[in-house]
Amino acid sequence: MTSSSIRRVGVLTAGGDCPGLNAVIRAFVKTAESHTDWEILGVLDGFEGLLAPNGIRPLTGADVRGILHSTVNGEACTVDRSADALARVREVEMDALVVIGGDGSMRVGLQLAQLGVSVVGVPKTIDNDLSETDVTFGFDTAVSTATDAIDRLRSTAEAHHRVMVVEVMGRDAGWIALEAGLAGGGDIILIPEIPFQVERVAQAIADRTRQGRSFSIVVVAEGAFPVGGAPISQRVGPDGFPRLGGVGVWLTSELERRIQAEVRATVLGHVLRGGTPTAFDRVLATRLGCAAAWLVQRQDFGKMVAVRGSEIVSVPIEAAVRASKLVPPSCEKVLTARSLGVSFGD
Ligand code: F6P
Repeated sequence: MTSSSIRRVGVLTAGGDCPGLNAVIRAFVKTAESHTDWEILGVLDGFEGLLAPNGIRPLTGADVRGILHSTVNGEACTVDRSADALARVREVEMDALVVIGGDGSMRVGLQLAQLGVSVVGVPKTIDNDLSETDVTFGFDTAVSTATDAIDRLRSTAEAHHRVMVVEVMGRDAGWIALEAGLAGGGDIILIPEIPFQVERVAQAIADRTRQGRSFSIVVVAEGAFPVGGAPISQRVGPDGFPRLGGVGVWLTSELERRIQAEVRATVLGHVLRGGTPTAFDRVLATRLGCAAAWLVQRQDFGKMVAVRGSEIVSVPIEAAVRASKLVPPSCEKVLTARSLGVSFGD
């Protein structure tokens, strides 16, 4: 296929919603409209849209006007219907498909690519746990929202001499907890990569009390768990996968049995996935959306646009999904926190 033989390009977002999604779509559509004569097809409701009778519709510059600052919903795809999706891609004569998603969506994208679909990926997750890219859009917004919440909770913590436990998202990776904890001056940061001991957390709070600090802030990732334990899940979703959440409330009651102060939990959960993207995320999402359009134009398929340092590069989707990007327990950010006296409960 030559560059000029590309006539129709599909765009879909899959997985959880994420601040900056609309900025990617806007940048892709605007770039395509200004520099090519492609017809852009918006695929609704993630990969499901490839299978639904009315799941694909034209997407024009008019549709993406004024959406830079907003979020958009993604959808999970759990059943393997890649053969049906391939048939639909062929039926609507989609010459290329841009998949904006996290590791799960990239895996589905890779599957479609292996079946012969010309796929380009754009990394998306607030958790920042996708490999082969330094950062994903949505992460900065999530960290900013969590930091703002910690700042607000500090008022009550100080005024009422309380321990405030703030639970943030982060299923397998503790990047949000680590960075929001650093930015918000958290005293204890608990992440999935460093299993904690409740006794150590209680000890860190008691040490602060002895030093005359009458309050403490604990930032805990939803996927954090005690040594020998497992992440807490209160429910299983309709797709059969456990939904995490609850470690903050559990830790609160464990701590109250061990220390004198009142301990209260706040669960930020999906608050971190919504809202207006930060300027950083808008710029990053715009650059990635634009880079995705150039990849399609060059017909450099099976690749994902990514960030390396200050550059936008492309990497094989296969490499990006090989392993999650977790917080290395001895990384510089963890060591920085430790040197400030932050406890990881280990
Ligand atoms: O993947 C991003 C994420 O925010 C995870 O940290 C979290 O476990 C998950 O989404 C929650 O997704 P859901 O909305 O399906 O509960």
